[in-house]
Amino acid sequence: MQGFGVDIGGSGIKGCLVDLEKGELVGERLRIETPQPALPDPVYGVVGGIVESFGWTGRIGVTFPGVMKHGVAYTAANVDKSWIGTDVDAGLGAFVPGTVETLNDADAAGIAEMRYGAGRDRQGVVLMLTFGTGIGSALFVDGHLVPNTEFGHIQVDGEDGEKRAAASAREREDLGYPEWARRVDRYLDVLEAGLWPDLIIVGGGVSKKAHKWVPLLSTRTPVVPAQLQNDAGIVGAALAASERPEH
Ligand code: BGC
Repeated sequence: MQGFGVDIGGSGIKGCLVDLEKGELVGERLRIETPQPALPDPVYGVVGGIVESFGWTGRIGVTFPGVMKHGVAYTAANVDKSWIGTDVDAGLGAFVPGTVETLNDADAAGIAEMRYGAGRDRQGVVLMLTFGTGIGSALFVDGHLVPNTEFGHIQVDGEDGEKRAAASAREREDLGYPEWARRVDRYLDVLEAGLWPDLIIVGGGVSKKAHKWVPLLSTRTPVVPAQLQNDAGIVGAALAASERPEH
């Protein structure tokens, strides 16, 4: 069976057909630069164009980098604030032929990892973290998602955790992996003080270089890199759209 997923990010909007048996993209994904400013209507236009270019007319799954409840965006930490309070499912519905299921980007990536990747068949408490512009989180209890956990915003030494430990902080401040790993370690210390996961999956582009920083972490929880990497959001969105009832 095939589905369709779109990943809305601060710099790019990516979409592709997805093979839901294998958890893989079918053919090449299409990536379009996110319009600036990234207001809802121009972003919907890009999503509509991507879906149309594949000739897909069915239901689509879409990721958004903020809290998403029942199709409505509640936060927008790293995107334009005009998204807050916007009914994305309804707004986007006017730009695509099928129905829309929108979910948090890290939740989508986590859903994909749990089904097809590093979290496959893992019971207990599994935490997926995505390191990018911010830090996204997805929490699973015996395979069931606890949505919108937003652990990127836990307070670490008086600041939002993601401010110092996101992958963007490493680039912005030109940190080497050992230095950045110390910050991630501190962030995970605080997270582990309140949560006892059985496994932590680390994703985002920086997980391709996991060998440079994961071995430096001193967490009590085992940490493994994500397996789907760049495609996890698209795959997870398509899967969520195919399995969640239309509303
Ligand atoms: C947002 C989350 C998002 C994460 C990764 C955070 O700043 O609050 O909703 O999942 O960034 O994009």
